[in-house]
Amino acid sequence: MISIRNVSFSYTGGEPPVWALRDVSLELEPGEFVAFLGPNGSGKSSLTRLLNGIELPTEGSILVEGDDTADPLAVPSIRRRVQIVFQNPENQQVGLTVGEDIAFGLSNIGWPQEDMQRRIRWALNAVRLDADEDRLVTQLSGGEKQKLALASVLALAPRCLILDEATSMLDPVSRKQFVETLHEVRREHPFTLIYITHHLEEVFEADRWVLFRQGGVQAVGKPAELWTQEELLSGCGLELPYPRRLALAVRKLGVPVSDSPGPEEWRKLLCASS
Ligand SMILES: Nc1ncnc2c1ncn2[C@@H]1O[C@H](COP(=O)(O)OP(=O)(O)OP(=O)(O)O)[C@@H](O)[C@H]1O
Ligand SMILES: [Mg+2]
Repeated sequence: MISIRNVSFSYTGGEPPVWALRDVSLELEPGEFVAFLGPNGSGKSSLTRLLNGIELPTEGSILVEGDDTADPLAVPSIRRRVQIVFQNPENQQVGLTVGEDIAFGLSNIGWPQEDMQRRIRWALNAVRLDADEDRLVTQLSGGEKQKLALASVLALAPRCLILDEATSMLDPVSRKQFVETLHEVRREHPFTLIYITHHLEEVFEADRWVLFRQGGVQAVGKPAELWTQEELLSGCGLELPYPRRLALAVRKLGVPVSDSPGPEEWRKLLCASS
């Protein structure tokens, strides 16, 4: 469980401070899949940096499984438990080869040397990265690099994984594959997932959405409760995928239609109305 208690955060301090986050409170349950959504500059990435102790709250506190991120003795363990994958995989790759890249994090946390090879293979299999351990990282495609970044953090068995727009460099097919792989791994090895994206279609399966606006939390709820609130979403800079937008528009005309109709449903509706 992660408790975010009345957290405000300013990068610069100063008087008056410029707030990147303002009085945010939130509880994240173990194993929960939560989407952080909102426009550019609304505070999503800032909050993730606070969650693993890269930055400290200016006001309020953050507890990770009871440990305060402001406690210097707890921070190494918090950083191990809360892992982040950022947008650009190249910023996170430290090894020359695929194997070295995964081994680096494992060595840092003192993973037993004799189990290293097995763990590296496990991580590569988990993310379906079909690459030899000796393959040079520079030879991987963008999608493969992103899978490697995911493999490197999954190898560390995080309790909470934050993906901060980790799919934004991928084409739609690779993005879909990446998200599917992620959920497959979660089914077998559950962890709390915080997923930051500007693509709502990736997060309809989430347990909860947290909508950010101007450094504050504007709304928290199940996707089914929030996605139909068009004004709330547009106020947070969010746009529904086209099938959902069309479904809402058609419902307003009194036509019963499912949440995200496919071509067959539209065909039936059109035939019935003609
Ligand atoms: N390193 C930094 N130094 C100073 N201010 C920063 C820094 N990083 C972010 N900010 C400011 O903090 C506020 C919140 O930014 P943040 O990056 O958390 O937003 P975000 O919701 O992640 O946006 P995006 O969708 O563009 O990634 C913004 O006003 C931003 O300008
Ligand atoms: Mg961000």
